[in-house]
This record gives sequence, C-alpha cells and structure tokens, in this order.
Amino acid sequence: MKYGHFDDAAREYVITTPHTPYPWINYLGTQEFFSLVSHTGGGYAFYRDAKLRRLTRYRYNNTPVDDGGRIFTINDGGDVWSPSYRPYKTELDHFETRHGLGYTQITGTRNGLEASVLMFVPVDTNAEIHHVTLTNTTDAAKQVSLFSFVEFCLWNAEDDQTNYQRNLSIGEVQVDGSAIYHLTEYRERRNHYAAYGVNAPVAGFDTDRDTFLGLGNGFHEAAVPHAGVSGNSVASGWYPIGSHHLSVELAPGESKRYVFTLGYLENDPEDKWEAPGVANTAGARALLERFATSDAADAEFSRLQEYWDDLLGSYTVSSPDDRLDRSVNIWNQYQCMVTYNMSRSASYFETGMGRGMGFRDSSQDLLGFVHLVPERARERILDIAATQFPDGSAYHQYQPLTKRGNHALGSGFNDDPLWLILGVAAYIKETGDEAILDEMVPFDNDDTQADTLMEHLRRSFNHPLDKAGPHGLPLIGRADWNDCLNLNCFSTEPGESFQTTGNRTGGVAESIMIAAMFCAIGPEYAELARRRGDTAEAERADAAVAQMREVTAEHGWDGQWFLRAYDYFGDKVGSAQNAEGQIWIEPQGWAVMGGVGLDDGKAVAALDSVHERLNTDHGIVLLNPAYTEYHVELGEVTSYPPGYKENAGIFCHNNPWIIIGEALLGRSEQAWQYWKQIAPAYREEQSEVHRLEPYVYAQMIAGKDAVRHGEAKNSWLTGTASWNFVAVSQYLLGVRPGYDGLIVEPRIGADIGVYTVTRVIRGATYVITVTNSGGADAVVTVDGETIAGTVVPYAPAGSTVQVEVTV
Ligand code: GLC
Ligand code: GLC
Repeated sequence: MKYGHFDDAAREYVITTPHTPYPWINYLGTQEFFSLVSHTGGGYAFYRDAKLRRLTRYRYNNTPVDDGGRIFTINDGGDVWSPSYRPYKTELDHFETRHGLGYTQITGTRNGLEASVLMFVPVDTNAEIHHVTLTNTTDAAKQVSLFSFVEFCLWNAEDDQTNYQRNLSIGEVQVDGSAIYHLTEYRERRNHYAAYGVNAPVAGFDTDRDTFLGLGNGFHEAAVPHAGVSGNSVASGWYPIGSHHLSVELAPGESKRYVFTLGYLENDPEDKWEAPGVANTAGARALLERFATSDAADAEFSRLQEYWDDLLGSYTVSSPDDRLDRSVNIWNQYQCMVTYNMSRSASYFETGMGRGMGFRDSSQDLLGFVHLVPERARERILDIAATQFPDGSAYHQYQPLTKRGNHALGSGFNDDPLWLILGVAAYIKETGDEAILDEMVPFDNDDTQADTLMEHLRRSFNHPLDKAGPHGLPLIGRADWNDCLNLNCFSTEPGESFQTTGNRTGGVAESIMIAAMFCAIGPEYAELARRRGDTAEAERADAAVAQMREVTAEHGWDGQWFLRAYDYFGDKVGSAQNAEGQIWIEPQGWAVMGGVGLDDGKAVAALDSVHERLNTDHGIVLLNPAYTEYHVELGEVTSYPPGYKENAGIFCHNNPWIIIGEALLGRSEQAWQYWKQIAPAYREEQSEVHRLEPYVYAQMIAGKDAVRHGEAKNSWLTGTASWNFVAVSQYLLGVRPGYDGLIVEPRIGADIGVYTVTRVIRGATYVITVTNSGGADAVVTVDGETIAGTVVPYAPAGSTVQVEVTV
C-alpha cells in the first residue's frame, strides 16, 4: 500500500493523505538555519545547534504523535480547519504534501477554499519562509480569518524541558505591528533573538500560549482561532508563542498570497538596545523587508532550486528503471547531504540534544557527500583528524560547535582510526588534492602536538597492528563498528552505558571485522605512501596487509563463514559452535572487500552462507540466530529483543558491504537483488509494513525474528545513506573514482539493459553508456578507442569524454 507517489520531474514525494503510518518528514536549510518539517507541518527550527539554539518547541514522546509545529488555521464562517489537517482533523476535500529538495508544500482544500503553505529556508538566510496562498474557488465572495502559530523554545532545548522553576518566569516578547520578537534572556547574556512577521497588516496577534489555546485545551481546541478573534496577548513568562490574525477577503476565483518569515538574528553586544528596554530589531526589520513581497519570496525559492540543481549534477543516471534513477539522482544524494548537515543530531529519532558527531560516522558520511561538496569534505576531514590521539586512537565523538573531542565518551573503539584513512582516500580520489596530506593537524585538538595529515594516517594504520591480541588479530576495545558488541564491558547495572562502562581492560577480545577492515583499507594507505614516493613505507604497509590476510584466513575462519570475534575469554563469537549468534554479517562483506579468501573459496562460501542464513525479503539480518537471552560477556547486542537493532535486525548500513562483496565477486544479479530489498523506492509499495518515509533509508528494518518483521525505524540520519550510495553508484552502476582515472565496472542485473551515467569529476564530464547483460566482464572504449582494462584516465577540466561499456 502506498500513501502517495514520486513526482520525479519536480523531484518531490507527494503524500496524498495525512494518515501515513508515521510522520513523514523533510529538512529545510542548507547552511546554518535548519528545520524539520513533517507532512502535517510538525517539527521545529534551529540555528546551527539543535540543542543550544532551538527556535521553536517540539515535544518528543508526545501524544498525539507530532503535535505542534507551524499551524495555519482557517476560520471560514465558523468552520475551523487547517490545510495540514492536524491539529483540528477537520476533514479536507483535498490534501497533499509535497516534500522536495529543501522545501515542503502543504495544500488543503475545504468548502471551495484552497490553502497552500510553501515552507523553505532560503540559501544564505537565517529564516524559514511560510509562503501562504489562499484561493477562493467558489462563485461567491469569501471573508475568512487566517491565523498563524509557532511556539518558541527558550533556546536551550534541554533546559527548556527540564528547568521549569526558572523558565516559566523568563519568557519575553516585543510586538511591533506585524512583527513579533521573541526576546527571552535577551536582556542578559543572549545577543540573539527570533522574529516572526508577515508582510500584511494584522487584525490581531497573540504571544501568550495560554491565551491562544485557552488553558487546558489541546492545539485542536485552540480558543483564538475558534473564536475568530485574537487576544492581543503579550507574554510575560510562561509560554511565549507567535501568532498573527489576518482578515482576508477573496472575490470569486481570487487568490491572495502572504509571506510569513520566521528568522534568527544576532546583534553586537554594544548594539543591543534602541532605547532603554527596547531591543534593537533593525536586523529583523531588514529581514522582513527582504520578504515584503511574494515576488521576492518566489525569487528566493528559485534560487534554492538552482542550488540543488548545481549540487546534484555531478552524478546522474538514466536507466529503464525509474526507481533506480530517482534513488540515485535525487533521494539518496539528498539524504547524504542531510546527514552531512545534521550528522546524527536532529531527526524524529534523534532529539537534537544528545550525541555529538561520531568519528566513524562522520568519516563514513564523507563517502556519500565528497562528490557534492568537496571543499566542505576537506574541512570535515581536518576537523575529524584533529580529534585523534597521538597513539592513533580517537575520541569516539566530538562536539560540532567547539570541534573538541567528547571526554565523557572518550576513546577505545578500535575501528575508529581506520575510517579516517577510508574518508581521506575517497576525498583524494574525488579531487586529486593530495596536498591535503601535508596539512598540519593537531592531535587531541592541541596545536602543540600537530603533525601532517599523512602522519595521522600512519598512526591510524599502525593502531590495529600495535593493538593486536593473542591470534595477531586487532583487539576490539570497547566495540568496533558494532557499538553493541561490548566484549570488555560485563554490565549488570540497569541503565549503565555499554559503550563507556569498561570494567575489564581486556587484552584478549579480538575483532575479525577490524582485521578485515584493515585488509580492505590498509592498501589505500599503502597507495598514498607510494604516491608520495615513500616506497619503503608502502612496502611495509603491503606486507602488514598480506600478513593480516593470512591471520584472518587462519584464525578468523569458522568453516563456512568468517568468525565475528574472540571474546574476553578467548572464546569464539559468530561460530557454528555457538548456540545463538552463529553467523554475523560484518566480517563477511569486509573480508571479501579485504581480499581474504578470494583464491581458496572462503570468500564465495562466506557470501553463500550469508544468503542462506541471513537473507530475508526485507534485507539481510545482522546475525543469526538472534540472541534470546542477555549475555553479559557480549554486551548490548544481546540486550535487544530478537530481531531488533543489532540483535538480528536488518541494519541497512551493512547490507551494502555484502552488496559490494557480491559485486567484487562478479555476482551482479545477487548484488542487484540485495540492494532492491532495502532501497526505499522499491519498498514504497509496502509502505504499510515499512511505515517510514519511502524516499529515504532508515537505519534499521526489523529482522525475521522480530514481532514486526519488515518495519523500519530511525530514518534519515544514518550511515546507511552514504554506504548505499557507494554501493549503487560505484559498484552496481559501477562508476567509481580511482586515483588516476574513473573506474568503470558495472555489476547490475540484466534487466537494466542500457543505461547512461553522467559523472562530473575534477572539472571534466564523462558520459558513460553501458550496454549490460548482467555479467561482470566489461569492454571499455573511450572516445571511440578500446582501452585495456577498466580505468578511464582523468581528462583535463572542461572536457567531455564519451565512454562506451559493453558488459
Ligand atoms: C549506529 C551508530 C554507528 C554504529 C552503528 C552500529 O548507527 O551511529 O556508529 O556503527 O549504530 O552499532
Ligand atoms: C546504541 C544503539 C546503537 C548506537 C549506540 C551508540 O547502542 O543501539 O545503534 O550505535 O547506541 O550511540
């Protein structure tokens, strides 16, 4: 069952009912001002940091789910409704929400009045625009009231939800004509404020929530819109809001448009006041003046669309399958940009108050956006590397505002260092900017301990070698990629963090996943050394990788698949000998990528075992059989009910590792099949099972042991976005950047017969036409000449290269 459809020409998902199985959201904003908006107008806005500069209030864990947000209310002769359906739930004659790239348009129609709200954050502007159009489609004149509503958050979202003894006394506002200013704490240490204005005279306003709603009323019973008259309330403490009342006359067939602007503004500390007690609102007035006309708002909206055109132009595909095309050209890349902007901070599953930026998460996110914003990727790499310790380990997370490592969480996740090499390699392949390796980068954010980025990579490379266990495999530390495999933790205290409670130092627990990662990522480091002329270092690295491949094949092999780990006691994890958790997904894909067991059948056997033991119609589960009991020696993974999250859920982040593994083995049909199982556009038809947005990936789909097999959770902010983009664009469609040229190795199902990829890289455009039969051997011609191999050399910037590939 579907709740809407894709409109590819407009690059939108069109939701045709308010009754989706869960709020289906979108993101507004490109630089510093961001908003989340659901298909019924829920969500919130913030400036740079979702915790510390939250502009509008949102209640997680709420009932009804997704209450509040931006509410536009129509009172049409006593008939009260909203184009977003919520909160009044008055039936609409027509409802439609269009989620597009950086904007959302909600339209509702009732009794011959069409109301549409286009929401977007203009490029380079710290404001959210609500462009409202009211159209009278009847033969008679209409006189209606339009009420706007946002609820201000008192800036620090966490404090806002906890510190009532103070906060209920500090709310302050100022009203000036059609402009409402939210000024809480401005009198003291805040040099910023918010403004909510409209480009028309108002019949009234409200800034006090209890006046607007009526104490004890829900949003759906709001007193002011039902009465049709504003209270002209000026908040003093309690709950400041912004609401305008417009009185609108519409002739038959007439349309009127209004621009509402919700802005964030900063003043110089010396320039805060216009007069004693009167805030300096010149900045806000200038902002509102910029959006004084619908034409101005339209022009800004066009500029936003051009911004996205530019951004998404560097990788496009045209194939016989529109689900493939829309995934690659629009939604997967869009999700990668959102994960770049948000990291893991604010979604409908992340409250915007919790986690900082993950070292490994950010390094992997890079893989999905490096081609979109290479300069910002460069900056991100240097930020991440600066949180590395001199011994090569790293802070597991850092804070985006300060860019400092997070002491509370510390380090000890022994996979972290390797991801930095992978991210840097991807950046250099994309841009050719090897000079980044000479950048001086601090260790532990301490400039006195700076060294070159290349030296950071050397320490990353050495870390798993320095921290090897009894079998010569890398020690796992607190956890590797799988945050929930905590082999040194042994927690029996409810609520204790599995990630930070390290009550055993270990020295035994080894990770086959890190070993396999080392085999896959280590050669990138060797190549970078070689390119710098450091042959001795390259040879040392090659030898270490060859050695690790041997150790992995010998001590990491269980007979039909690769083991997952050795635990604290040296016992096997992920072995046929175990009662539960016999086979895990992570080492199988990584071992193949790492070239382990390619010659002796291990690689093929491992992936065959994945198919047999882990695959389902909804994707590949993380492990099998699911753990049914808590194992103190394995940690958080066994804390989840069977089939959810890391305990045998379908973690969409690691399915691509198998897809890439299959592609590398030349098993194109299998790779293609696996990708379609989890790709949202292919799951759209079963949206009632999947439940989350059909245009973006979710972190997890419940596995076969779960009560709700096939149900997704945690959409949007997940490494799933970047890894799936890598899988589909670089391995299935088979166009991936190398150091000296574009590698063209298609591995996609035979049903995708002829397709064209247009790739812009290093300033040149490659038009790659593939005639595909589902096999794995490709003949490549470049501008009419057949080349040996599959590497199309990089051409000078400005040129266009025609590539023909026959598979
Ligand atoms: C979450 C974390 C990521 C981790 C994964 C598996 O997605 O953000 O760092 O690798 O879970 O545990
Ligand atoms: C929990 C989650 C896991 C996440 C970790 C770190 O363990 O299950 O997915 O990676 O927290 O935030």
